[in-house]
Amino acid sequence: KNVVYEQSVSSTQEIAHRIASDGAEEGTVIVADEQLGGKGRLGRPWFSPIGSGIWMSLILKPKIPPQQAPQLTLLTAVAVIRGIKEQTGLHCDIKWPNDILLNGKKLVGILTEMQADPDQIHSVIIGIGINVNQDFFPEEIKEIATSLKIEKGEEINRASVMQSIMVQFEQLYELFLDEGFLPIKHMWEAHAITIGRRITARTITNSIQGYAKGITDDGVLLLEDDLGTIHKIYSADIEF
Ligand code: BTN
Repeated sequence: KNVVYEQSVSSTQEIAHRIASDGAEEGTVIVADEQLGGKGRLGRPWFSPIGSGIWMSLILKPKIPPQQAPQLTLLTAVAVIRGIKEQTGLHCDIKWPNDILLNGKKLVGILTEMQADPDQIHSVIIGIGINVNQDFFPEEIKEIATSLKIEKGEEINRASVMQSIMVQFEQLYELFLDEGFLPIKHMWEAHAITIGRRITARTITNSIQGYAKGITDDGVLLLEDDLGTIHKIYSADIEF
């Protein structure tokens, strides 16, 4: 496997995009000790201080149509949860579409980006940010963020966690390529705290309240409002 290690970068996503279009192989991973311009979803920054987290981007080149790319985000969430469980014994939950929570606080963020035209994917870049050894967080996020060290009460070896996650990812990705999304969807649902609850989905333009019925095979969230209308939610912030 191809792993590119960098000490300090602006964002591993940017590097991954660049080398993917320059022909990097599927499975190439870019990992950094620190990101000065770490990117979160919806244009938000991602706090990536030196030495305390796993900041990585994975390049995939699957032969699937672009609308199936979100399935890979869900697959990644399952791989990350399994890797963390294996290394620390800690049980995490998934909040649709891609937040991994531990004791109700955010531990991992996943950002999936694509290079594609309407009928073909060129690359999927999956960015994974895991809070591992932080002792504290900046004021703005300290109520909502946590790290493995805070929850476990001891220093955690970043390389071992990353290794376990990659092994899990590889197994799940092979299963996905052989059998499709269904088995992955079931695993994802087993960890998801969003499904079967009343939630509010906030998008940039509006906010819809209702009951989260499940996800589609494309990873789209199905939300039933109080009038019984089913809304397909492609991207939103979820509140309980
Ligand atoms: C989120 O907003 O929840 C997604 C956060 C994704 C952060 C990771 S860290 C590695 C990769 N490089 C980035 O700039 N972002 C992703």
